Amino acid sequence: MEDIEAREFSKKILTIQEEERHRISRDLHDEVGQFSVSLGSALNIIEKEISRRNFDAALRLIQDAKNILTETTKKIRTLFIDLRPAELGMLGLPSVLRELFAHYTKTYPLNIKFKENIGRIHIKDEVAITLYRVIQEAFNNIVKHARAKNVKIDLLLKQGEINLSAEDDGVGFDAEAFFKEANVNKLGLRGMRERVDLLNGRFLVQSKVRNGTKIIVTFPIIEES
Ligand SMILES: Nc1ncnc2c1ncn2[C@@H]1O[C@H](COP(=O)(O)OP(=O)(O)OP(=O)(O)O)[C@@H](O)[C@H]1O
Ligand SMILES: [Mg+2]
Repeated sequence: MEDIEAREFSKKILTIQEEERHRISRDLHDEVGQFSVSLGSALNIIEKEISRRNFDAALRLIQDAKNILTETTKKIRTLFIDLRPAELGMLGLPSVLRELFAHYTKTYPLNIKFKENIGRIHIKDEVAITLYRVIQEAFNNIVKHARAKNVKIDLLLKQGEINLSAEDDGVGFDAEAFFKEANVNKLGLRGMRERVDLLNGRFLVQSKVRNGTKIIVTFPIIEES
């Protein structure tokens, strides 16, 4: 019985990993690939304009090309952050999260408020990794969809439970409708929910159009040392 459960568990983990690879390759193709194509064609036009001595037009195009490059660099940095295994064991979850938030405030016009009472309390590795991944995907979604100005992250230990909430003041969406429809190209929220379910946590998304989005995750068992 236990064997079957363990096999199911590793099968689910493998599925989550495959889905993540699928999303990373899709993002590389759709966003970074797209940017390099536009950059290439901008350079071709600049070359033509210069050979015709249309320097003003060329200068304008160079500015466009620089903007394209800035966007590409942002996207690549964010993809790296997604890929890098966080040094959770060494630094503890709050420090690693602060680094992640520093990346986001540097790269995007976001104001992030972070409240935590974990300090150096040790959280079980799988739980810490899942919390980190949930926050990471919450931010992916915030910069991709929310058009938010403010994000509030609370990570609070209370009566043996750990509560995470990530709230933005962006455009929101119909969360109920989203979970009813099947969409193989939108795996972020489902992936979060699956990871949390696997560790017997609770996962909730509260969102309404024009009313921001809030993700709440709770884990019951905390290992302290
Ligand atoms: N913070 C948010 N603000 C506004 N809309 C959101 C937010 N988070 C999610 N959404 C909406 O919910 C949908 C599902 O999100 P999900 O993360 O599952 O997929 P995705 O971001 O579109 O694709 P993927 O995560 O696979 O790259 C999004 O397409 C978007 O419409
Ligand atoms: Mg997403």
